[in-house]
Amino acid sequence: MVDPFGRMVDYLRISVTDRCDFRCVYCMSEDMNFLPKKELLTIEELTRVSNAFIRLGVKKLRFTGGEPLVRKNIMALFNNLTPQLESGALREMTLTTNGSQLGKYAQQLADAGMRRINVSLDTLNSDKFTAITRWGKFDQVMEGLQAAKKAGLKVKINTVALQGVNDDELHTLVSWCGDEGFDLTFIEVMPMGDIGNEDRVDQYLPLTKVRSLLSERWSLNEIDYKTGGPARYVEVRETGGKIGFITPMTHNFCESCNRVRMTCTGTLYLCLGQDDAMDLRAPLRSSDSDEPLEQAIFKAIARKPKGHDFIIDRDTLPSVARHMSVTGG
Ligand code: GTP
Ligand code: 5AD
Ligand code: SF4
Repeated sequence: MVDPFGRMVDYLRISVTDRCDFRCVYCMSEDMNFLPKKELLTIEELTRVSNAFIRLGVKKLRFTGGEPLVRKNIMALFNNLTPQLESGALREMTLTTNGSQLGKYAQQLADAGMRRINVSLDTLNSDKFTAITRWGKFDQVMEGLQAAKKAGLKVKINTVALQGVNDDELHTLVSWCGDEGFDLTFIEVMPMGDIGNEDRVDQYLPLTKVRSLLSERWSLNEIDYKTGGPARYVEVRETGGKIGFITPMTHNFCESCNRVRMTCTGTLYLCLGQDDAMDLRAPLRSSDSDEPLEQAIFKAIARKPKGHDFIIDRDTLPSVARHMSVTGG
């Protein structure tokens, strides 16, 4: 699948639920209204859509939420797709999770063929963790991470850089990740959802600044390491770990975008930072044949926009009103 700008689309992110057991301040409001369960694609339908995308050239599938591991019977979906990994049709199947359920699921994920997972963690301070996630339990995530290690999953920690919140922990995070054998990715906060930009303006921390702070203490070597996502990586000489930088605000990476994302109701968003979308649920349900679905996918890819136009500004409302949790990033 090639879009109008000549970009090959081979990475699909699927949000399997809009629900989450956390309420991170930059992602959800505290009193979120969730979709009625009957609106969601079933596990069978999610499998069918995944297989259709694989047939059309998708090589990497990342499951997100909300929190993907709170979706009932989620392992059935992953297990349904294991044969695609075994045959080589799919290069990677993976997950972005808040880590809360890894104690229960890590081994099952590894058994289903996952090799690498991304875990969101913005702080190593338990009180701050509660302030950011509102409902999260820090110890549960720490236990989950150890379970992931034990199951042999490679872990990448996702840290949203927040001025005045975790900017005093940058070195601690690098050294802790080095000790644990985790890679680490810093992310610039993106203005999405009806949360307003007030806090974001104060908390926005450009990664140019993070990188220069890190350079004061660590030797960062540019490396040619690619995961198929938007991060650009360096290696930390002292720890041997990798640090990725995801910079939608200071260094737009849309030019090399290879991905689209589908919500749990089957809406395909062509760009994280744009509202244009295509409904895949109706064509999916219209026929036992996958032809209408595949046609709708092709039509959507032909509409993929050039990129986002996020602005973080005190007087500007987020240009994208949907919450980050609708597509899981
Ligand atoms: P890797 O496979 O490890 O490269 O994962 P990833 O970085 O693609 O996925 P992950 O779910 O860990 O996302 C990390 C951050 O990158 C999240 O904040 C996402 O919102 C953000 N991100 C991923 N894809 C895009 C994108 O296309 N545009 C923008 N603006 N942000 C993205
Ligand atoms: N800006 C940047 N990253 C965000 N995430 C959630 N909301 C935002 C936001 N507004 C991150 C989470 C998770 C990933 C999927 O997206 O921390 O790691
Ligand atoms: Fe849940 Fe992830 Fe959103 Fe936090 S960022 S509320 S863990 S979906």
